[in-house]
Amino acid sequence: MIRSIIKSTGRYVPDRHVTNEDLTQYMDTSNEWIVQRTGIEARYWVEEGEDVGASDLAYEASIIALERAGWSPEELDLIVFATMTPDVNVPGSGPFLQNRLGAKNVPALDIRQQCTGFLHGLEICDAYIKSGKAAKILLVGAEFQSRYLELTTENRDTAVIFADGAGAVCLEAVESDAEVGIITSILHADGRHSQALRVGMPARKSGKAISPEVMANKEHFPFMDGKTVFKLAVTRLPVVTEELLSRANIEIEDLDMVIPHQANLRINEAYRERMGIPEEKMYNNIQQYGNTTAATIPIAFDELMEMKKLKSGDTIMFVGLGAGLTWGGVIYRMP
Ligand code: UT7
Repeated sequence: MIRSIIKSTGRYVPDRHVTNEDLTQYMDTSNEWIVQRTGIEARYWVEEGEDVGASDLAYEASIIALERAGWSPEELDLIVFATMTPDVNVPGSGPFLQNRLGAKNVPALDIRQQCTGFLHGLEICDAYIKSGKAAKILLVGAEFQSRYLELTTENRDTAVIFADGAGAVCLEAVESDAEVGIITSILHADGRHSQALRVGMPARKSGKAISPEVMANKEHFPFMDGKTVFKLAVTRLPVVTEELLSRANIEIEDLDMVIPHQANLRINEAYRERMGIPEEKMYNNIQQYGNTTAATIPIAFDELMEMKKLKSGDTIMFVGLGAGLTWGGVIYRMP
């Protein structure tokens, strides 16, 4: 049977290391508040004024993953690029990345699924591989959030959370009788909550155009109803976890590692306790990276691979929830 295997990983974050203390010069906040409410201690942001886009962050992570896979970019059958912060509005960042890699004529698909972009990407790649449409795919989650964060007290709830970074994986089709690779995936959306986390501009709807009034209303900055998203996360992540376990016909104890989206350490801790997952079986790195949206899960997975914390036969669950509302998960077994 054809299996979808993650052959290699890579990650990249910009050089600028921003601590909570650094943020206190822009807004009324404190290290204590941020650590207590989110778990975040520091994050990486692109230098102010630097001429880069999400595709440039993605490029750095991708060349590491491609080199580790031993693949040249021309060999790829598909590039899937998950981001909510594309270089420009049109075209997508996929073609920018494709061009920088020199992956001549390789199709490049952008997906706009925010915090669950990587999870959607895994399901899409798995479908391409299992249908025989592709054998070698580069999947990247990359975000350049900092350029559109407002560093003011008014917008401090989003300013202290979001961060820049990229994580990439090379997915390969392999023939194997063993039940390895992507075992199952489940995705959900609930558009009733589409206003809970949004970036309103640029938009075409309602006849809106970028105008001094729209800028004054700060509609180009992210808006987040944090409490609503928080509640939705702690209630829906356990449900989709049960769905995934049942679909894979395994128990929670059979998981060797859970890699959740890194939106808030308190969300992940509440979820872990509710599911009875032991501390050592969940990996969090939001403390050092902040919330890099589509990049959180591949960055965490790359770190675990680098630390050699995952071994052949380990069963892993990737899970997350975010803007849309979208949520879901993937069960993956290490080949
Ligand atoms: O990956 C995308 C998905 N996003 C999420 O999953 C985010 C989920 N939500 C959250 O992480 C949390 O709701 C936040 C961290 C955003 C906010 O934490 P909270 O415990 O829900 O705080 P809150 O919004 O209820 O605000 C409590 C207080 C408020 O002050 P008052 O009204 O009680 O005087 C806020 O103005 O904390 C204030 N506050 C801050 N204080 C210092 C909000 N942000 C900050 C800040 N520093 N950065």
